[in-house]
Amino acid sequence: MVSRGVENFQGREGMLLRIQRALGQLIPHIWMSPQNTYNAESVVEKYASDTDLQKPEQTILNLIKESIKKGRMLDVGVGAGRTTHHFAPLAREYIGIDYAHNMLEACRRKFHPLPSNVSFIRRDARDLSIFGDGYFDFVLASYNCFDGFSHLDRIRILKEIKRICKSGGLVSFSSHNLLFAENYFKIDWWLNLANFESRKSLRFLSAIYRYAWVLVLNDSREEIARQDYVMIHDGAHNFGHKLYYIKPWKELEQLAQLGFNNTRIFSLNGNEIERGSDLSRATDCWLYYLCTTR
Ligand SMILES: C[S@@+](CC[C@H](N)C(=O)[O-])C[C@H]1O[C@@H](n2cnc3c(N)ncnc32)[C@H](O)[C@@H]1O
Repeated sequence: MVSRGVENFQGREGMLLRIQRALGQLIPHIWMSPQNTYNAESVVEKYASDTDLQKPEQTILNLIKESIKKGRMLDVGVGAGRTTHHFAPLAREYIGIDYAHNMLEACRRKFHPLPSNVSFIRRDARDLSIFGDGYFDFVLASYNCFDGFSHLDRIRILKEIKRICKSGGLVSFSSHNLLFAENYFKIDWWLNLANFESRKSLRFLSAIYRYAWVLVLNDSREEIARQDYVMIHDGAHNFGHKLYYIKPWKELEQLAQLGFNNTRIFSLNGNEIERGSDLSRATDCWLYYLCTTR
């Protein structure tokens, strides 16, 4: 059951709820586990209301549609089923996994009655042992759902994905881009995000407050820029958990080492970044990768 939005509350009840939420946002939720964050009603509600593909996902879908038609697909970290709308009708078998019970409940409600080719399974993506070798034609992990993992977990899950994908199968996922992260260390960026021009004082204060927490919770900007990949508190889910950021060339290297090839990169505007082009100019907050298994 998802909660009613603030907009639906009138009068004193609405005011109290607003105050409660505002106070909740004042304190970073650094004690929350990622799993609890994704089980929270407000988070499930937000994901459940989103049904559109992101532009690079649409580009990727157009590119691979024919290859995945009538194939088996695994949607890792399926959330509230945003991608299910678009991919499940194509596949012979579509399985969505997620470790957040409430996300899966939202999927089951949304797609009730469940088509015979679709199932949702509660599963931690770090353990894909229920799936046999070479079972899937396509594995998708959209909207940065690997980025809550530590570096080692991430390597392990990519290896597992390679195992459960048939040889020559397709894998696509997105990941936060470390080249973007320097923005979090610029007060101007936060003020722009808060639409400072609107001169709403609460937004302005919230931006400064979030900027300050970024400085407190992370290593320095220079230290972060020196890394190839790093976990960052970027303010997502009210600082609920750190997220993995990686430089795009390092991601390419990681994928090649793990046995993925033909890797292609897509920007948030939906365009492919040409192979061999200067990746230091790929500065979107996250990027999509599409590769095949060797
Ligand atoms: C950012 S949301 C993306 C949801 C969905 N893929 C979408 O694009 O709308 C990340 C999802 O991954 C799930 N997730 C994160 N870590 C996971 C893990 N270790 N095992 C299974 N699911 C996980 C979360 O519960 C959440 O639903």
